[in-house]
Amino acid sequence: MNILVTGGAGFIGSHVVRRLVNTYPNYHIFNLDALTYAGNLENLTDVESASNYTFIKGDITDVDFIDALFVEHKFDGVIHLAAESHVDRSITDPMAFVKTNVMGTVHLLNAFKSVWQDNYKGKRFYHVSTDEVYGSLGKTGLFTETTSYDPNSPYSASKASSDHFVRAYGETYGMPYVISNCSNNYGPNHFPEKLIPLFINNIIQNKPLPVYGDGNYTRDWLFVEDHARAIDLVFHDGNNGETYNIGGFNEWTNLNLVKLLCQQMDEKLGRPTGESEKLITYVKDRPGHDLRYAIDSTKINKELGWKPSVTFEEGLAKTIDWYLENEEWLSSVTSGAYQAYYKKQYQ
Ligand SMILES: NC(=O)c1ccc[n+]([C@@H]2O[C@H](COP(=O)([O-])OP(=O)(O)OC[C@H]3O[C@@H](n4cnc5c(N)ncnc54)[C@H](O)[C@@H]3O)[C@@H](O)[C@H]2O)c1
Repeated sequence: MNILVTGGAGFIGSHVVRRLVNTYPNYHIFNLDALTYAGNLENLTDVESASNYTFIKGDITDVDFIDALFVEHKFDGVIHLAAESHVDRSITDPMAFVKTNVMGTVHLLNAFKSVWQDNYKGKRFYHVSTDEVYGSLGKTGLFTETTSYDPNSPYSASKASSDHFVRAYGETYGMPYVISNCSNNYGPNHFPEKLIPLFINNIIQNKPLPVYGDGNYTRDWLFVEDHARAIDLVFHDGNNGETYNIGGFNEWTNLNLVKLLCQQMDEKLGRPTGESEKLITYVKDRPGHDLRYAIDSTKINKELGWKPSVTFEEGLAKTIDWYLENEEWLSSVTSGAYQAYYKKQYQ
């Protein structure tokens, strides 16, 4: 099987690529990534010389390139993660999100359709999406697979749009697809513009911890390796035309999360209890900020037997340990040096 993973140099994609390369020696895993600021091949140094792995630098918005790539490799399966993924960036530059998340997805669908010409036996297009497409919850309730879409940010609107296109290609052209909508991920290799790695880095450096609004925004957090395991499972065992919600049943307000992070960091850095919490500062809220996300992952649990393998406390401790042990990775990312890795390794 030739499997294309898009966005495999990013945070979640790199965990998916590693898992597939190590678990399925009989598959060939092609990692297609444009290496935007969020793509980092240093995430994959442990598998880069595996015989069943190939990295391809390329952009999913480049139609001719994508068409030629599908003709050349006749991918049996696509696991599509490439995206612009940061909500704050979508507020300042929505078009970049339309281009990659919507148009890029449609180019991939077209290329998949054109190469298999309706002969889809044993083929599958897997679109990886987010719980943010469902909009915001009030104080109660959970997102299920039948919750109506109600996106509030340009990021979530672009992901919602791409989900609709995937489903529409399934309905219109009979293309075999699966979609999953997952809650917030955390773990190793997370780019330090997102809350948890940003705050770990700031705590190490004794810099302020900027919390939006009153800190009561609530998210459901999932350890990234549990997400990668769910993606593997849905790709292999999910039913065509189905959506699976993936989440941790693990809700935290931003403020409580930051406090837990500060406590764990104080212990690990040998600082007096309460020291890191002094770094918390409250900053002006983000426009269109969703109050609460929470996923009901009963379906994937009942149908595919998946559930998270670590508690939040365990996952957070593993994550902090990884960042403390990989300060070189962190400084390479924060200094921008990681962007030279592709040139050094591949050119
Ligand atoms: N991070 C989360 O908490 C989360 C939760 C649910 C779903 N998701 C979804 O999972 C996917 C991966 O998220 P992530 O957090 O790993 O993102 P990320 O930003 O870390 O990685 C995205 C990757 O896509 C690549 N990319 C971007 N534009 C591209 C293009 N035009 N062509 C080819 N490659 C391109 C980047 O170089 C990067 O390697 C996204 O689709 C996102 O919507 C993320």
